[in-house]
Order: sequence, then C-alpha cells, then structure tokens
Amino acid sequence: MRKSYAIISLFLLLSVLFPGCGGDKPEVFRAGVIGENEFDPEVWGKVFPLQYESWLKTEEPKPSDLSMYRRGWDKDKIVYDKLSEMPYLALLFNGWGFGVEYNEPRGHHYAVIDQIDIDPSRTKPGGVCLACKNPMHKSLTEKNGMNYLTASFDSALKMMPEKIQKLGPSCIDCHKPSDMGMRINKTHLENGLKVLGKNEFTRQEQRMLACAQCHITYFVPRNPDKTVAGDVTLPWTGAKWGSISIEGIIKDLLTDTKRIEWKQKITGFDMPFIRHPEFELFTKGSTHFNAGLSCPDCHMPYRRSGSYKISVHDVTSPVKQDFVACAQCHTDKADWLRKQVFTTQERTASMQNRAGYAVATVAKLFEMVNENQAKGKKIDQGLYAKAKDAYMQGYLRLNFISAENSMGFHNPTETARILSDSTAFANKAEAMLRQALTSAGVSVPEKINLELGKYLTNRGIHKRNFVPGQEFKDPYGTQDYFTPKDVKGL
Ligand code: HEC
Ligand code: HEC
Ligand code: HEC
Ligand code: HEC
Repeated sequence: MRKSYAIISLFLLLSVLFPGCGGDKPEVFRAGVIGENEFDPEVWGKVFPLQYESWLKTEEPKPSDLSMYRRGWDKDKIVYDKLSEMPYLALLFNGWGFGVEYNEPRGHHYAVIDQIDIDPSRTKPGGVCLACKNPMHKSLTEKNGMNYLTASFDSALKMMPEKIQKLGPSCIDCHKPSDMGMRINKTHLENGLKVLGKNEFTRQEQRMLACAQCHITYFVPRNPDKTVAGDVTLPWTGAKWGSISIEGIIKDLLTDTKRIEWKQKITGFDMPFIRHPEFELFTKGSTHFNAGLSCPDCHMPYRRSGSYKISVHDVTSPVKQDFVACAQCHTDKADWLRKQVFTTQERTASMQNRAGYAVATVAKLFEMVNENQAKGKKIDQGLYAKAKDAYMQGYLRLNFISAENSMGFHNPTETARILSDSTAFANKAEAMLRQALTSAGVSVPEKINLELGKYLTNRGIHKRNFVPGQEFKDPYGTQDYFTPKDVKGL
C-alpha cells in the first residue's frame, strides 16, 4: 500500500501543479472538419476513427462472471432483471412500468434500442422519455415543444431522420466539434447547474458533467391527471455543487403535485420516483470525489491504440475491464482492488436487503390498514398520517440507493448512512401501524407475508418471471432472520 499512496500523492501533486490538465491528456489526432450541428457519429468517426471505433464497441457484450452485482449483457447474453435481483422492489413498484419490466443497464449503444424493446408501460409518457437517451432531444424540444414531449414514443422518434432515431449517447452530446472540448447537450442539466449556482468548471468537472447529463435523478413533471407537463427536471432545490443530499432531494420531491408520477398500488399513495443518481451519490463527499476524480477516470481509461493514446469510449464497468482504470493511481494488483470493490458491494447488498424488506413490510401493513378502514374499522388518522410520512422517508431512501448503479462503491459511507436511515424510518412506520391496527381492535400477525410471488409472476408483454439465481441475497445471511422464505412468499 505504501507505494500506492506515493503514486496517488504524485498524481494529486501533478494535478495541483498543472490544474486543468488532470494528468496526462492524449494528443488529439484530427483529419478533417465537423459541422456545428452534426448528429451522425459516423461523420465524426471519419475525423476521429479511433474514438469512433471504441464508441461502437458499447454494442458488444462484455466478459461474463467478472462483475458480481452488475451482470447484464455479458457474453452469456442474459438480460438481468432488477426485480428478480431485488424482489421487494416488485411489490413496491407495483402499479406502473418499473414494476413490470426493469432491467440491468447495458452499453450506450442500446440506450434507445432497449426503450423500443421494453414493455410499453415504460415509455408511456412519450417523447419526454428520450431526454436521457437521444442526442436530438434538446433540439426537438426547442423546435416542437410539448408536441414533441407528449407525442407517443414512436411518433417522437419519427420526428428525427431515420439514422438518428436509434442513437444513444453520441459525440455531439459530449463534444464541441470545433475543438473537441467538452460540452453538454441537455437543458435539464443546464437548469440544474443554475440551481446549484455554479457556472465555471475545471476540466475534471467538465469531464464529469458529460456523464451527469444522464446519470442523475430527474422527474417527469406531471399534470394532476399524471399526463406529461414538461421536460424532465432535476429535484435539486437548495443543493450545492458537491452536496446534493438525499434529504434535499426528498424535500424537493414532496413539495408539489408536479412531482407525483404514479400511484403505488399496494398502499394507494401518490408517489414521486428516483432514477439512477450516480452523479449525486458520487459527488456527496466520496473519497474519490474529494480526491478530485471524475467519472471518466474510472469508466474511460486511457489506452494505447497504435501510436496514439485515446480515452476508451467503450464505457462500461471497470470491473469488466479488469481494473485497468484504477491502475493509473493504485499500484495494487487487480485481485486486491476486486476484493475492495466486492466487499463494499456485499456490505451494501446486506444493508439494502434490510431496508428493502423493512419498507416492503410497511407497504403490506398499509394494505391491511386500508382494507380494515374500508370494512369500517376506526383507524387513528393522526397516527396514520405520521406513519405515512415515515414510510415516504424510508421508501425514497431505498429508491435512491437501489436505483444507483454502483452497489455502494461510488460512496460507501454515504450509502450505508442512507440505507440505515431507510430501515430506521420503516421500523418506526411499522410500529405506528401496528399500534393503529391494535387500537382499532384488529389483531396483527407477528409475521407479515409479503406474497412476493404475486408481484413477480407473468409481468407485461414479455411475461417476465422471478429468476431465483439472479437474486441479490444477503451475503451474510442475516436477512433470513427477518424475512424467512415463508414470509417472502416466493
Ligand atoms: C445521453 C445520456 C447518457 C450519457 C451522456 C451517458 N450515459 Fe451512461 N448510460 C446511459 C443509458 C441510457 C444507459 C443504459 C443503456 C441501456 O441499458 O440500454 C447507460 C449505461 C452506462 C453504463 C453501463 C454500461 C454497461 O456495459 O453495462 C455505464 C458504466 C455508464 N453508462 C457510464 C457513463 C459514463 C461514465 C458517462 C460519461 C462519460 C456516461 N455514461 C454518459 C445514458 C447516458
Ligand atoms: C473510482 C472509480 C469510479 C468513479 C470515479 C466512478 N465510478 Fe462508476 N463505477 C465504479 C465501479 C467499481 C463500479 C461497479 C461496477 C461493477 O460492479 O461491475 C461502477 C459502476 C457504475 C455504473 C454501473 C455499471 C454497470 O455495468 O451497470 C454506472 C452507470 C456508473 N458507475 C457511472 C458512473 C458515473 C456517472 C460516475 C461519475 C458521477 C462514476 N461512475 C464514477 C467505479 C467508479
Ligand atoms: C458520454 C460522453 C462522450 C461521448 C458520447 C463521446 N465522447 Fe469523446 N470523450 C469524452 C471524454 C470524457 C473524453 C476525455 C476528454 C478530456 O479528458 O478532456 C473524450 C475524449 C475524446 C477525444 C480526445 C482524445 C482522447 O481520446 O481523449 C476525441 C478525439 C473524442 N473524444 C472523440 C469522440 C468521438 C468521435 C465520439 C463519437 C463517436 C465521442 N468522442 C463520443 C466523452 C465522450
Ligand atoms: C485518479 C486516481 C485514482 C483512480 C483512477 C482510482 N483511485 Fe481509488 N483512490 C484514489 C485516491 C487519491 C484515494 C484516497 C487515498 C487515501 O487517502 O486513502 C483512493 C482510495 C481508494 C480506496 C479506499 C477507499 C476508501 O473510501 O477508503 C479504494 C478501495 C479504491 N480507491 C479503489 C479504487 C478502484 C477499484 C478504482 C478503479 C475502479 C480506483 N480506486 C481508481 C485515487 C484513484
């Protein structure tokens, strides 16, 4: 480890001595000119063939069995089902698209293709769904406004030239064609950065913003009848750069009905939703963020290609690239790094099991309370309201971490904090609901059967079912005490 620290210190010293250089920047090889509004990566590829070739590789499956928690579109060609991985989510998301089909992410090539393939309940909002996928989203929103945003998903795609329709993250999203410097191509992030009050960025920060265009949480603003009311928006009210907290996000999401996107079937509650908050979790004081890293440092390592050094554009898990990205700072062997990553992820999986099942149990108790109310039992409304508040706090924290794609690695201590708070809120809500039921003369069983099989079977047009081998079980076995097999109902 000594040697490793020395190298890391040298890297950090170099970044201080040469601010804005972020270490060793590859020389840009250029063989032509690209138009200001060129969407077609093939045209960019004529000028930058090495990066283009690397970018095309996001289509290819990655080596199987390297990653522990981010399997999916590997050489086994299995599309992994997040609802089988985290079965409590099937119960909690029941009532809308995410409870029907919710898959592990795969390479950028598939961003739009997967939307076309997925159960149609997931793309019901229409054009607005293309915000974090297609490079033409911004220009079509500027040109056609609500006509594009609320158009059916298919009609929205047809507003683009055929060649652009199936494009995911593309050169024009991240680069200015004039000098290949970084740019952003998403109005929601421009607005989000205004909320953060930040308008000057170092090169490292710009490299991170390229990814923050999509790897952030947002909501699709809704009218009271839940139809789409505008382009996606970031729930960052009150946040600062480097401190977008889960507490702030929850506060923002619970402020008004525009943020209410769906009705949770089991509780009957109107709910907001949290999506892939990689940027938010990473920048909330993680060790690597504090050390000045940005996403491409781990996800787009430099690699030699002939006589040139390029940033790998085949963006994927560093675990599936055998930790080459980490080696520029950590001289430790890949085995050591793998062990660090997996240990962090296993601890997260254990804590997430605890939170997930605690929140799901409360949802089931609300179902019981609502049924008893409908039968005329008098439930203490003050207690009910308090339990609902605690439930929302627990649920949204679980939603945040389960939607984040690193299984804790991006920020292990913050992840642990959020999950333990989630469990604590859920336990509090459970106690209040048990009291409310008991006072109303309803006897509550010690074990609440979650009936997970009911929510996991025969889902959507693809008739998805629970796949036992994909489940993220508690690696320490502790969860079996809280939710043994018969309680899970699987
Ligand atoms: C325009 C939106 C967009 C941008 C910009 C973007 N991503 Fe993605 N990313 C996605 C989507 C969408 C997926 C999932 C695609 C799918 O599953 O079909 C994804 C998937 C991924 C994956 C999983 C790949 C795999 O092999 O499983 C990684 C890792 C990733 N992105 C990292 C990054 C990094 C790092 C950046 C910045 C350099 C970035 N992304 C920029 C939208 C984006
Ligand atoms: C210090 C290195 C590091 C940094 C910096 C980093 N990541 Fe990651 N990221 C990882 C590791 C390790 C994983 C876990 C991969 C696995 O388990 O296979 C991961 C997982 C992911 C995944 C899921 C990958 C998959 O295959 O599904 C996405 C998406 C992602 N990161 C995006 C980002 C974004 C966006 C940023 C910046 C805000 C970022 N990462 C910063 C190391 C890093
Ligand atoms: C998701 C964002 C993203 C997309 C999409 C993307 N790039 Fe990049 N690209 C980057 C980042 C980040 C760097 C590193 C920039 C830096 O360090 O200043 C980079 C660097 C480059 C460089 C500079 C040399 C190097 O390799 O570091 C070239 C040239 C380049 N990209 C070309 C392309 C081309 C061509 C495409 C489309 C086929 C493309 N990029 C798509 C993010 C992206
Ligand atoms: C650009 C340099 C850089 C890269 C790339 C990098 N790291 Fe680090 N890493 C650091 C620094 C700096 C620290 C903090 C060292 C310290 O103070 O202990 C650190 C700390 C760590 C720690 C201890 C974390 C903690 O929270 O205590 C682990 C584990 C780790 N890195 C794993 C990885 C893995 C895995 C990758 C690749 C996916 C990676 N790092 C990529 C610079 C880097």
